Amino acid sequence: MAFKVGLLGLGTVGAGTAEILLNPAQRHPLLQEIELYRIGVRSLDKPRAVKLPPDLLLTTDLDAIVTDPNIDVVVEVIGGLEPARSLMLKAIAHGKHVVTANKAAIARFGDEIFTAANEAGVYVLLEAAVAGGIPVIEPLKQSLCANRIQMIMGIVNGTTNYILSRMQMEGSSFESVLADAQALGYAEADPTADVDGLDAADKIAILASLAFGGRIKLAEVHCEGIRQVSAADIAYAEKLGFVIKLLATAKRDSQIAHEDSGLAQLQVRVHPTLVPKIHPLASVNGVFNAILIEGDPVGQVMFYGPGAGAGPTASAIVSDILNIAAILKVGRGSNMGRSSNVAQGNNVQADGKPLLDPLLACSHQDYCTIAPISDLVTRFYARVLTHDHPGVIGKLGTCFGSHNVSLESIVQIGLRNDRAEIVVITHHVREGNFRAALEEIRSFESVTVPSVLRVV
Ligand SMILES: NC(=O)c1ccc[n+]([C@@H]2O[C@H](COP(=O)([O-])OP(=O)(O)OC[C@H]3O[C@@H](n4cnc5c(N)ncnc54)[C@H](OP(=O)(O)O)[C@@H]3O)[C@@H](O)[C@H]2O)c1
Repeated sequence: MAFKVGLLGLGTVGAGTAEILLNPAQRHPLLQEIELYRIGVRSLDKPRAVKLPPDLLLTTDLDAIVTDPNIDVVVEVIGGLEPARSLMLKAIAHGKHVVTANKAAIARFGDEIFTAANEAGVYVLLEAAVAGGIPVIEPLKQSLCANRIQMIMGIVNGTTNYILSRMQMEGSSFESVLADAQALGYAEADPTADVDGLDAADKIAILASLAFGGRIKLAEVHCEGIRQVSAADIAYAEKLGFVIKLLATAKRDSQIAHEDSGLAQLQVRVHPTLVPKIHPLASVNGVFNAILIEGDPVGQVMFYGPGAGAGPTASAIVSDILNIAAILKVGRGSNMGRSSNVAQGNNVQADGKPLLDPLLACSHQDYCTIAPISDLVTRFYARVLTHDHPGVIGKLGTCFGSHNVSLESIVQIGLRNDRAEIVVITHHVREGNFRAALEEIRSFESVTVPSVLRVV
């Protein structure tokens, strides 16, 4: 008996997924046993990027797919929050396993969706939701599971990496590169989710949850985008031996576990960052993504590749479908059939709760404690414009010193509009202290601070 897939969405990712499922030759033999059974779309008349067999049922009734008793796994690739959330929950309630690429819905409703899945005894897999074709979710869940993860640091948004890479190469402004990226289809007409860091925040929340074994409240993820990164900052960073990247970081903040949950306190943040040119993430350019993971005892491992696109994202979706198919196949001998049997069949624990593979299912109950950004200890870069008169550098240095901010370098780079342009790099300092010093500096007569960036 074939294992039946109901696909919600036939856009970029949906068409890529259909393409693989309909052409299993020379791929894993288990694919031959998977049948693309029904596809749900918004419009039946649209031309499609994939040639569908005439008997394949295309419908606008997505409810009929998630409740269809013949379907084992529902693949959600319509995107957005609703109806994606409701459809996933309904599929789970009907005993279907779910595969999704929807980081926005998982980052916001993951607790509700995974709780429902655990109760129903089904899997919700999401390899495609972070970094498209790069395997990172499954390595975190399985290959690296012996490690105590210390840090995840990644370039997880291709649009912003493309914009910053081109600004770096061409010396162009953010606005002009964004307009060009939109014309070329690398950036959306409404680029907010990408350029303001929101998409990267969704992704790091998901990765942090997996790496640190607790749920993450998205509202606690500190998020800054790249709109304020100027061509001048990129040029100065370059002179100082850095490139500027939008980094998403999740880090164990201290070895002290949170009293109630036993979970570590974390920093989880997204912001443009000066990255030394010799850092492994510095050479990740264009639309590519990369994720650096540091674990004890493995050390650092880095995952690099295409973070989006029909083929790469579908590669991740189909690997999740195959994972579920493999579990069902082993669970039921050579017969593969309806997923609702998993919840109601043999795979039940003594207490009656459904038994799920603990390396694939999500079992987090508690929320991680996230440290406020003011407690972050990091290095800073700041660009200051002021009157060009003697003693100004000394005055800035004294102010930083009085707030316990020690400086690695403070250099007058030149003149801009008759004002002295000074670039400051700090040692590791507490963010709260640095911000207090900046507030005082901003109150000095004719001083402005056009840019402040953190440094790896
Ligand atoms: N594109 C990528 O490279 C990429 C990479 C990683 C993750 N993702 C994620 O994958 C998901 C899908 O992205 P995509 O780029 O494939 O989107 P897309 O090209 O816009 O396709 C969306 C598909 O869903 C259908 N759809 C949307 N709303 C619907 C509704 N209310 N009822 C019925 N059908 C509906 C559309 O139907 P019609 O075709 O009839 O309009 C379309 O086929 C998103 O969550 C996205 O974040 C995408």
